[in-house]
Amino acid sequence: MNKIIKKQNLDSFKGTILIPVFETTAKSIVPIEYHGVSVYSQVFYGKKDTHYLVEKYECTHVFIGLGKELDYKSLKTIFRRIAAKQKEVFGKNVALVIPDNFNKTQVEAAFSGLLLGTYNLGHYKKTEIHSFLNSDFELNYIANTDFGEVIAKAIKIANAQLETYALVDLPPNKVTPKYLANWATESGKKHGFEVTVFGKEKSTEVGLHSFLSVGKGSAQEPQFIIMEYNPANAKKHIGLVGKGITFDTGGLNIKTAGMVQMKCDMAGGAAVLGAMQLIADLQLPVRVTAIVPACENSVDAQSFLPSDVIQSYAGHSIEIIDTDAEGRLILADGLSYLIKNYKPETVIDLATLTGSVIGTLGYECAGLFTNNVELSIKLQEAGDAIGERLWQLPLWDAYKPDIDSEIADVKNYSGKPVAGAISAAKFLEFFTNNHSAWAHLDIAGVAFGDDEFAKTKHATAYGVHLITNFIENL
Ligand code: BES
Ligand code: ZN
Ligand code: ZN
Repeated sequence: MNKIIKKQNLDSFKGTILIPVFETTAKSIVPIEYHGVSVYSQVFYGKKDTHYLVEKYECTHVFIGLGKELDYKSLKTIFRRIAAKQKEVFGKNVALVIPDNFNKTQVEAAFSGLLLGTYNLGHYKKTEIHSFLNSDFELNYIANTDFGEVIAKAIKIANAQLETYALVDLPPNKVTPKYLANWATESGKKHGFEVTVFGKEKSTEVGLHSFLSVGKGSAQEPQFIIMEYNPANAKKHIGLVGKGITFDTGGLNIKTAGMVQMKCDMAGGAAVLGAMQLIADLQLPVRVTAIVPACENSVDAQSFLPSDVIQSYAGHSIEIIDTDAEGRLILADGLSYLIKNYKPETVIDLATLTGSVIGTLGYECAGLFTNNVELSIKLQEAGDAIGERLWQLPLWDAYKPDIDSEIADVKNYSGKPVAGAISAAKFLEFFTNNHSAWAHLDIAGVAFGDDEFAKTKHATAYGVHLITNFIENL
């Protein structure tokens, strides 16, 4: 396990010393100084995204520019960058000097950033050094205050996010529905939550017809994963549902663009799994029931067909217009099963649901849909605080005719090239039985992204911290 050690001073320390510096002025005559090493402010004055290295006393001193003031996400990214740039040496003989004016939240951001920086996408490379998840990670810190508790929390956050990265980044021949179910079972044992999994037979018996329709064309058995965390001191009850499509080919309406990225289509499910681990690990005093319907949307003689009419757990019939609008079908059963059997006060679902939300909001924030003003504000605040932004889109009944069907109670796609994220949300709403505090987060644009940390798109763990922070602030 990783170790964090508080040091009084750097006597006899040999290794890398990280010295974060808030921006001073370039013309300042006072040099920045630490550990007997001074840097002239003409050379380095703490400007954001700058570094300055000095080798002295058998130590590498890394002065890190923070700028004048910075938000949680930027701070986390600065530290992630530091660790990512020296993955080979990181993990041993590193000391972080915590500035006197850092608050607890800043310490949390810095530490989880450092830990995330150790993540390695090369899961299958012979030569790659793996992240601290499996290694003896050791980090020293120097501070005037004891930050033990906040650092312990930062480690738990980073651990849950690293697990979520791996779930999304690993390929679909590894991360099958069964893999997700096993992951949940193992995490439940380790962190203290109950896990029940319905395979194909049990799902059929229970009546999860809409969920089962999607997995019909796949060799992988669908798994309906139910997780229950119920601490003795719980006052509130939250329900979560995450889209767990381990690969989305589109089905018979096969994708003609972007299919190669569709291992990310279980990122909502992974965020729910990661959040569940983190909530239990932090022992938050809230009851949480979470469902991840997991299956693969594939092509085969058994696949469901466009124009099929299927049944659902809620008893509503669904006309299939497009087999690529599969996420809403598995969420429909996830939501109605959760609401009917567990009656949580608040329900939140996370899903890489539509390309349309990317057309609307791009890659900067997730789409938020809810009829509950208070829930909308609380979710947005929880996200803003940690740099996982949300923007609300309408759920007006004016959009309801988009999913009206002639043959069935509802159809799974409007057939129109407009407002796709909204009609998808209207479809989900139809299966919430008018729940008064339900929110849907369309995370298609934010779950799997491009950034400085890799050449290809990769997982962001969007939602893990957001949901946990929301629950913490209830
Ligand atoms: N999994 C996709 C949505 C998606 C797109 C996720 C891009 C991540 C990145 C979803 O199942 C899908 O195929 N949606 C279609 C729906 C359409 C056929 C009604 C879409 O948005 O194009
Ligand atoms: Zn699809
Ligand atoms: Zn999908």
